[in-house]
Amino acid sequence: VTIHDQQLHRGKGGELHQIAEDGAELLTTSQGGPVADDQNSLRIGARGPLLVDDFHFREKIFHFDHERIPERVVHARGYGAHGFFETYEPLTEITRADLFQRAGEKTPVFVRFSTVAGNKGSADLARDVRGFAVKFYTQEGNWDLVGNNIPIFFIQDAIKFPDLIHAAKQEPDRAFPQAQTAHDNFWDFISLTPESMNMVMWIMSDRTIPRSFRFMEGFGVHTFRFVNAKGASTFVKFHWKPKLGLQSVAWNEAVKINGADPDFHRRDLWQAIQSGNFPEWELCVQLFDQEFADNFDFDVLDPTKIIPEEVLPVKPIGRMVLDRMPGNFFAETEQVAFMTQNVPPGIDFSNDPLLQGRNFSYLDTQLKRLGGPNFTHLPINAPKCPFHNFQQDGHMAMRNPVGRVNYQPNSFGEGPRQSPSKGYQHFAADENGQKVRLRPESFADHYSQARQFFLSQTPAEQRHIAMALTFELSKVETVAIRERMISHLLNIDETLATTVAQKLGIQAMPKPADAAIPTRQDLERSPALSIVEN
Ligand code: HEM
Repeated sequence: VTIHDQQLHRGKGGELHQIAEDGAELLTTSQGGPVADDQNSLRIGARGPLLVDDFHFREKIFHFDHERIPERVVHARGYGAHGFFETYEPLTEITRADLFQRAGEKTPVFVRFSTVAGNKGSADLARDVRGFAVKFYTQEGNWDLVGNNIPIFFIQDAIKFPDLIHAAKQEPDRAFPQAQTAHDNFWDFISLTPESMNMVMWIMSDRTIPRSFRFMEGFGVHTFRFVNAKGASTFVKFHWKPKLGLQSVAWNEAVKINGADPDFHRRDLWQAIQSGNFPEWELCVQLFDQEFADNFDFDVLDPTKIIPEEVLPVKPIGRMVLDRMPGNFFAETEQVAFMTQNVPPGIDFSNDPLLQGRNFSYLDTQLKRLGGPNFTHLPINAPKCPFHNFQQDGHMAMRNPVGRVNYQPNSFGEGPRQSPSKGYQHFAADENGQKVRLRPESFADHYSQARQFFLSQTPAEQRHIAMALTFELSKVETVAIRERMISHLLNIDETLATTVAQKLGIQAMPKPADAAIPTRQDLERSPALSIVEN
């Protein structure tokens, strides 16, 4: 029996382990060196200085010092789970996307739910939009449906996103509030951004204090395209419907829960899945053609508008079940990199200017957050279908081309080849026009759908919206901002506006905000309100 035999034993898979005296796996350095003492650093004498010789100490502390990566610039706090998506019926007529071709086909998914504004350590039940991001590991590459639990958004153009987020997150001088909409900067920006009024009604509703992730809807928000094998396109909006139904807590409950258990939503998902109570959602679609788009009351490219389900019913096309928690939060939930531009053949973008901007932002931010171009090598981000290309090197490269050839075309007959018939074909949309910075006139009505949403609520839900607005605006110190918000509310619902104004102690009601379509004078005062001239 050699020393070598005493130190090693074979695991179940036949792999060799170094073993400690008691048969447990032996603690090693990252270089594999066995560690004799992990409790005491190397020093001169029992009370003397520590030694640079102590490579184990240095490696351990060095690694600890570098544990943190930047938190997401938005949606920093989140919680993920694995599961599967099951297709109900083939959708061959409308999309060639492989995951929708066979009834009963199961596609693995990873989902990350999140809040938007709070930092990584903030409380789960902040009043906030919830992210609902799904990565489908399809046989033709990853599809990321990076949605929210609200079907619309604050702004119509991605160029405004940094301002929205700066205004929503903690103020730069005082670094608070950490996870609340209730502050001057947020309401200042909102009150100067009429296009956000529909979203304001939704975020002041109980939807932003969900009972748990399991009781939330999800939405792709934008209009996307399905494209079939013949290259024909159908517009599509995506909806997730929770099997358990939609439920929220009351604001008083949210406040108490945040104090008693800031991890309430995490704990809920963890416990549900660990106890075999797997949450489930149906994926539903609204499908429409160009003619519907041309005749609909609003522009289907405007992400601040819904297509009401009464006008265009949703069609269930599959179900998603979450049945496994990550083995390691950091490796999977923290390192997962969702990107709207991850689409398989058969799914394409519309010209929604928010979506088009997002398609740049997500790749860019992953480079920063995950430290280089090889974040797709991380197991949580790698496709689960075979994938081959000539990308090489860079920090932390785990996959490099093997052999001599790392380019194409090549005459050695080596390496992967492109395929016009099987590869991703962008929908051949007809585009022409002048290069301009203009907002279409069809994006200009900011109040009708806000009113429609408010009036669709039950009396109790309307009361909650009024109470939420009162609470939020009562935290705003600048009176002019409060009044500017009341002037917008007057365009949505007069009773709502007067109720909130009275509760805030505003004596004289302001005038309603300027009508939806800005005048030429508005335009001159504020170029941000630009509209098309015709
Ligand atoms: C992160 C949704 C608009 C930039 C996220 C996440 C979701 C989401 C769910 C979290 C992903 C995760 O769990 O890891 C949305 C929706 C939007 C929207 C539904 C509008 C409809 C935008 C816009 C931009 C943007 C307009 C920029 C122009 C980002 C960035 C992250 C992010 C930089 C961080 C990604 C990361 O570090 O992994 N978004 N977002 N988002 N979003 Fe958006």
